[in-house]
Amino acid sequence: QDHIISAKQLSRADIEEVLDRAADIAADPGAFADRHDDALLGLLFFEPSTRTKMSFTAAMKRLGGDVVDMGTVESSSVKKGESLADTVRVVEGYADALVLRHPSEGSAKMASDYVDVPLINAGDGAGQHPTQTLLDLYTIRENAGFDDLTIGIMGDLKYGRTVHSLAHALTEFDARQHFVSPESLQLPRSVRYDLHEAGADVREHTSLEPVLSELDVLYVTRIQAERFPDESEYREVAGEYQIDAGTLADAKDDLTVMHPLPRVDEIDHEIDATEHAKYFQQAHNGVPVRMAILDMVLEGER
Ligand code: CP
Repeated sequence: QDHIISAKQLSRADIEEVLDRAADIAADPGAFADRHDDALLGLLFFEPSTRTKMSFTAAMKRLGGDVVDMGTVESSSVKKGESLADTVRVVEGYADALVLRHPSEGSAKMASDYVDVPLINAGDGAGQHPTQTLLDLYTIRENAGFDDLTIGIMGDLKYGRTVHSLAHALTEFDARQHFVSPESLQLPRSVRYDLHEAGADVREHTSLEPVLSELDVLYVTRIQAERFPDESEYREVAGEYQIDAGTLADAKDDLTVMHPLPRVDEIDHEIDATEHAKYFQQAHNGVPVRMAILDMVLEGER
């Protein structure tokens, strides 16, 4: 079954196929308007979401289909103690594909073992967020391209699932990757190991300043308060690694600044009006990219 669980399962050819189809969709969305007019997508979000849930909903509706939504944990039978395995086994009977967000790392892989319809991981704890990576790569291709790409990835590298997915996918494009974080939020050992095994060109730093001028893309992430086991640990690093217009004074003129959003205080609002800011474009790219993903997944299903 074609489940999408991790960026590690995507080759460069797979990625380019999705990005090319997303570009076709963006160029002529009407041509895809009734491609899946009898299809239903099951939404299972055990954690909050604005972008992922709404852009998957918009994508499915723009393909002519519809969604069936579990709603929140509080309003569903999860509240009564129903397991994830039982939940997905039930909901696969209501939908042609499932999208799952869950706070536990490994949950998407586990859930996918219980279902026959395609299951798409929309974020599993601090694990992976592969569809975010595809829209991130689409945005990088639009703005900086992949040739001789140097990217800085800054913020919460320990808990950031968007980072874990993106860093791995970038190895397919031979990008130079500079990771910038406090020591306590460096990449997990398992991610470092995977990047090493994939032959990635990576360096780790505690400050942006020495590498900023080399970067084509700066990917900023939020420090994820909700994943810290101890709030005092969060308070020690909260508010670090913020950027403003002054920070970018030594950056390339065409530096692309990205962020998976939501932001808290990592990017000063004065950057929003500059040519560097591509994070809202990045969020909007979620629709054509997720239309492409759903189109391909549902095409395979039928
Ligand atoms: N980037 C992202 O996953 O945003 P949401 O949490 O709002 O879905």
